[in-house]
Amino acid sequence: MKIKKILFVPDTHVPYHDKKAWALMLKAAKMFKPDIINIQGDFADFYAVSSHSKDPNRISGLEYEVDEVKKALSQLDALNAKEKIFVSGNHCDRLERYLMDKAPELFNVVKIEKLFGLKKRKWQYVPYKSDIRIGKLYSTHDTGCAGRGAVFRNLDTYQYNIVTGHTHRLAYIVEGNAKGEAHVSASFGWLGDLKQTDYMHRIKAAKDWALGFGIGYLLPNGTVHVVPVPIVNYQVIIEGKLVKL
Ligand SMILES: [Fe+2]
Repeated sequence: MKIKKILFVPDTHVPYHDKKAWALMLKAAKMFKPDIINIQGDFADFYAVSSHSKDPNRISGLEYEVDEVKKALSQLDALNAKEKIFVSGNHCDRLERYLMDKAPELFNVVKIEKLFGLKKRKWQYVPYKSDIRIGKLYSTHDTGCAGRGAVFRNLDTYQYNIVTGHTHRLAYIVEGNAKGEAHVSASFGWLGDLKQTDYMHRIKAAKDWALGFGIGYLLPNGTVHVVPVPIVNYQVIIEGKLVKL
């Protein structure tokens, strides 16, 4: 029986990612050898085109951000997964909103898919506010809710197995129904750098957000066994093996 391995890459916010966490995830992923990689949204931060007021000391320029995203994508490409899914998040949406508001003439010219070379790299692009099915599991960035209860609300919305990004929280719940079915809802934390965050109070982010990523095992009947991989002291255990930098 061929079981396909899935790597879930949660909100990374390149170039404001946690470099150690990213390196650790890559090291673990090389061991894991995923058949499928699912970027879960907010892979790019797109600070340069955010509509929020910007810290002048933090602005690094759109070109730099795009270059860093491409470097990170190349690192994922090097894992040689057969199937690669790029789910877009609200931060990727910043670019689209910027273009709509400030340069609508460029809207169809400047596209994330083109900017990051997703087609050439063989990534399937899933726009923000839509989803994709991997076997009997849906994957989307968010369903319009955040906070501690988001995993429950996502399950309420989908009434089906669902993995999400967005909250930067690490959570895994299972709920059944009267028909005897059980569904999972999970989010795998994030890979961003807390010190480089400016959109949430530090202490709240430190309390709520967790470094981590996820793996999954897709069975031929479509069932996906979802496994959160929390990063603890920059170490993870994946498939029974301790991985550290
Ligand atoms: Fe995010």
